[in-house]
Amino acid sequence: MAEEKSFKYVIVGAGVSAGYAAREFAIPDLKHGELAIISNEPVPPYERPELTKGYIEFKTNTNLAKDYVCGETGEQRQCPQWYKDKGIEMILSTEIVKADLAAKSLVSSHGKIFKYQNLIVATGSTCSRFSEFGVQDANAKNIFYLRDTKDLDQLALTMETKKKRTVVVIGGGYIGFEISASLRVNNYDVTMIFPEPWIMHQIFTAEIASFYQGYYEDKGIKIIKSTRATGFNTNSNGEVTEVKLDDGRTLEADIVIVDIGGTPMTSIFRGQVEEDKGGIKTDGFFKTSISDVYAIGDVATFPMKRYGDMRRVEHVDHARKSAEHAVKAIKAAEEGKLIQEYDYFPFLYSRAFDLSWQFYGDNVGQSVLFGDNDPKSPKPKFGTYWVKDGKVVGAFLEGGVMEENKAIARVARTQPSVGSLEVLSNVGELLIGSR
Ligand code: FDA
Repeated sequence: MAEEKSFKYVIVGAGVSAGYAAREFAIPDLKHGELAIISNEPVPPYERPELTKGYIEFKTNTNLAKDYVCGETGEQRQCPQWYKDKGIEMILSTEIVKADLAAKSLVSSHGKIFKYQNLIVATGSTCSRFSEFGVQDANAKNIFYLRDTKDLDQLALTMETKKKRTVVVIGGGYIGFEISASLRVNNYDVTMIFPEPWIMHQIFTAEIASFYQGYYEDKGIKIIKSTRATGFNTNSNGEVTEVKLDDGRTLEADIVIVDIGGTPMTSIFRGQVEEDKGGIKTDGFFKTSISDVYAIGDVATFPMKRYGDMRRVEHVDHARKSAEHAVKAIKAAEEGKLIQEYDYFPFLYSRAFDLSWQFYGDNVGQSVLFGDNDPKSPKPKFGTYWVKDGKVVGAFLEGGVMEENKAIARVARTQPSVGSLEVLSNVGELLIGSR
């Protein structure tokens, strides 16, 4: 007879959104044994973006405790004891391989059965892999994909034992952007390649990206744009030695780090719940098409009220806020109350070297740059506003202090009308004191 356990609430996945959902469930308190969090990772929820920022430190031992949620938002860090104290059952190193949403039942790879009254799907994304696209020698040793602590620990171990220090980073998104800087700080020889015409193409304009490209190159990172990796060469041990490029060149590589995008982890629910844009479709309370089943974080495709469309957002701020909103909605429903629909205002950020940027709103329409974006300046500081239909809809700032970041957020949130881009540029310069 298979082991069976029942809970009022089950969260599948123990990533960022699960951690913030647990916190919301625990306010003010939770009955012991009501909530279980089931995850295939061996550790409780941590601030995943720290993997390529604070967690990765090649010279010393890594330390996860400082990265547990909800530290990044100034709340208490939820160490394993926190979950025990709150009576939350943390079921780790346990992969859910089958879900029967009609029977309200989940099955783990060990054959254990978990029953629930309310399910929250918080399974996040996984890295897209070159092997899925039939790329030659894609499974060679020392090619890394970075999603969790295990990936980072393996990378750090390989780094320590390698005599050569040549790394090729494939991909110019978040992970490529951050890991390249972390490696360079640790004196690795780093080359970045990506198919887009500039780094962080989905968020940055060409003008924003030209600053980061110049800055990275000054730090010694080589950047090859508009170029694809087509395969790998290996030695007799099956270790990667070279990356082949679509222009016929090859790049020497002891280590390759790949960041070619993510895929939402929805497969165990496929065919049982409505999907949209690759994710699980939800309403403005993160309820899916199946009653008592919610989806939060990277897997949810939700109504983006302020822009009037459905979106899936793979960013940590949404992971946190969608979690809190879903739990508030569950609690309100239990009391026969209603809460407001989720009204997400996008916020993205990153840090690399001694740089730090924030972005708010939507990066659509025309853009205007303000401030000093010369990478050789002693203290570069600049921003960009995006204008659509005569209104400011998005704002970006590199090197801003808290008050300035708050100010650009306010602009993107309130969407003021603008007469001309020139005037807007002057307003931006006044904001950061560069005029
Ligand atoms: P998350 O991926 O955090 O958690 C999902 C959990 O579900 C994992 O524990 C997974 O193992 C588990 N799981 C999946 N399937 C399962 C199954 N079948 N059974 C059991 N468990 C299962 N964002 C940003 O805004 N700024 C940034 O700088 C960065 N930087 C960054 C760096 C790196 C290296 C990564 C990987 C990601 C970022 N991000 C980011 C993105 C951000 O981290 C991401 O959007 C959130 O972690 C999403 O939170 P979720 O809870 O949805 O998924």
